[in-house]
Amino acid sequence: MELANAKLRIEQLTTLLKDHNYRYYVLAEPAISDFEFDQLLNELTHLEAQFPQFISPDSPTQKVGGNVSDGFITVKHQRPMLSLANTYNEQELRDFDERIRKSTGLADIEYVCELKIDGLAISLFFENGKLVQAITRGDGIQGDDVTTNVKTIRSLKHQLSGNFPQKFEMRGEIFMHRKGFEKLNDMRRANNEAEYANPRNVASGSLKIKDPNEVAKRPLDIYLYYLLEDEGLFATHSESLNAAASWGIKIAETSKVCNGIDSVLAFLNVWDAKRHDLSFDTDGVVIKVNNKNLQEELGFTAKTPRWAIAYKFQTETATTTLLDIKYQVGRTGAITPVAELQPVAILGTTVKRASLHNANEMERLDIRIGDMVFVEKGGEIIPKIVGIDYTQRPENSEPQAYISHCPECNTKLIRNEGEAQHYCPNDLLCPPQVVGKLEHFVGRKAMDIQSIGSEMAETLYKNNLVNSPADFYDLTFEQLIALDRMGEKSANNIIEGIQISKNQPFERVLFAIGIRYVGETVAKKLVAAFLTIHNLMNASIEEMLKVDEIGERIAQTVHQHFQNPRNLQEIERLKSANLQFEAQKIEKASYVLEGKIFVISGVFENHSRDELKDLVENNGGKMASGVTSKTNYLIAGSGVGPSKLEKAQQLGVVFLSEDELLQMIQTS
Ligand code: IVH
Repeated sequence: MELANAKLRIEQLTTLLKDHNYRYYVLAEPAISDFEFDQLLNELTHLEAQFPQFISPDSPTQKVGGNVSDGFITVKHQRPMLSLANTYNEQELRDFDERIRKSTGLADIEYVCELKIDGLAISLFFENGKLVQAITRGDGIQGDDVTTNVKTIRSLKHQLSGNFPQKFEMRGEIFMHRKGFEKLNDMRRANNEAEYANPRNVASGSLKIKDPNEVAKRPLDIYLYYLLEDEGLFATHSESLNAAASWGIKIAETSKVCNGIDSVLAFLNVWDAKRHDLSFDTDGVVIKVNNKNLQEELGFTAKTPRWAIAYKFQTETATTTLLDIKYQVGRTGAITPVAELQPVAILGTTVKRASLHNANEMERLDIRIGDMVFVEKGGEIIPKIVGIDYTQRPENSEPQAYISHCPECNTKLIRNEGEAQHYCPNDLLCPPQVVGKLEHFVGRKAMDIQSIGSEMAETLYKNNLVNSPADFYDLTFEQLIALDRMGEKSANNIIEGIQISKNQPFERVLFAIGIRYVGETVAKKLVAAFLTIHNLMNASIEEMLKVDEIGERIAQTVHQHFQNPRNLQEIERLKSANLQFEAQKIEKASYVLEGKIFVISGVFENHSRDELKDLVENNGGKMASGVTSKTNYLIAGSGVGPSKLEKAQQLGVVFLSEDELLQMIQTS
């Protein structure tokens, strides 16, 4: 290969591989298979071996540094790495909140809740956007310099982008996903080596390996959760993390700003239940005061910050007798079997009920009335049955058949193929489903009618005033004031809240209607794609499938929803009540690209593909996915797909670089 070509190809491969690394590790959206990735990496390795003069220091092949260090150098931390105070229950958390409110004199504190990842703490130093040093926590005062090893972590960018401070420190946690851990153990078992105990141990052991090539084989990952810089650039912790993310630093997406301690407790409950679905282990939640000035005001004790605390999830198991099995019906008609238990104390509370999840779980356990069951409760979540002491099974016990009819409305239950849950299909009349739908409709993320809470929704239903969302809009002051314990002020508030909700945008209305599988995100995608309820109602399944993130199951359910005359009637009534059923028009920056069709391919230096797509669309142009005779321009980056390239050349499509596209918009 010629020198110039080799240089070009090495540059292309470097950009491409970096982009794929970023997609894989940071976005968790790989665009190519591992095999394809390895082939590209091989090609680059070979080329670099032939033309070492073109190896860039931050080449993806160089992530494993060659300099094997003998032992690790101990470095003193610029600021000590403290630990966190721990709590295991709600009361201690409330005490923490009260202390802060008292000492600051504020009524409500804004917190950031972050999952506490079970790994090992690390301190990273960046200079001019480059990682220059990584130090372990050590004893908190000094730690080991493990920079070379840390650089092998693929989700760590070696060069940041955007508007980063010239010098800063960032702390975070290095950990291993459970899958990677299991793979590693599979290999060890195959080699007759002792298995590792848990992902945390492997992660911490891996950083101490002397040979970075070995470290690179360990699938380590990192989340950063604490930015330290001297200029006071950010007013809040959450802002600093968002900024870091914009520079390409990996932060946890699960973090949340919570206003007040009740909102914090809600976060804990959600994650206590959901944490087992994560790809990594978490042992609790870290709660931090968001405002940086407040943090400073609160300061530190010798060991821990006063503005943060760790809440640890905990579990405790007890044994008790199963008295009965009841069935609950949710908003969507999903049936949940619930075990009624001989009351037993776990973690200081009395447990009388536990979830049995679904028919499969009941079958798996072969659970029977009178069984001695193991009940587990972690933190605040609903307890669950984790096993049965079969040795104590009463002699005359009988297997439990799952119910065939709805316990609330006696409709025959259905179970869709491939689904674990049974459903009651009587969505329009089954009481808990109707009330559930009303509650969902007025909910915060839906129509956000704050004057109607869950209780009020139920009262309105029981008094036969509201049976479907459209009925809310026919409510009168006279009807409300006639209700028990209803004051004039509350009645007015309700009427006003309902009126105001008419301004909620179409995507909220679509979410509020409560079509199964249409969550907030799906609602947004559908609105962006179809713009009006008319278009959406008339869309075919095929048309819906073309929309990003809309799969077979969603498309079919949405389509079906609009075939049902009762649903159509409901929408007509909501329309007459003047709810929003059209997307709000977004003002475009310009219309200079009007009538032009663009296709984009390859990787770009200064913009992401999504940014370039937005740019085209915001200036009146249209994006298409494949090159056809209608295509006007191909925006081509490095590594353009060969088929697109060939077709575009054949059809005489004009090629544009990202700069040329920008020029086109600016000079028109
Ligand atoms: S903040 C002064 N945030 O927990 C701030 N720590 O018990 C101190 N940890 O050494 C740390 N996830 O290893 C913080 N989101 C998170 C965390 C976290 C895990 C670990 C970290 C720390 C230990 C403190």
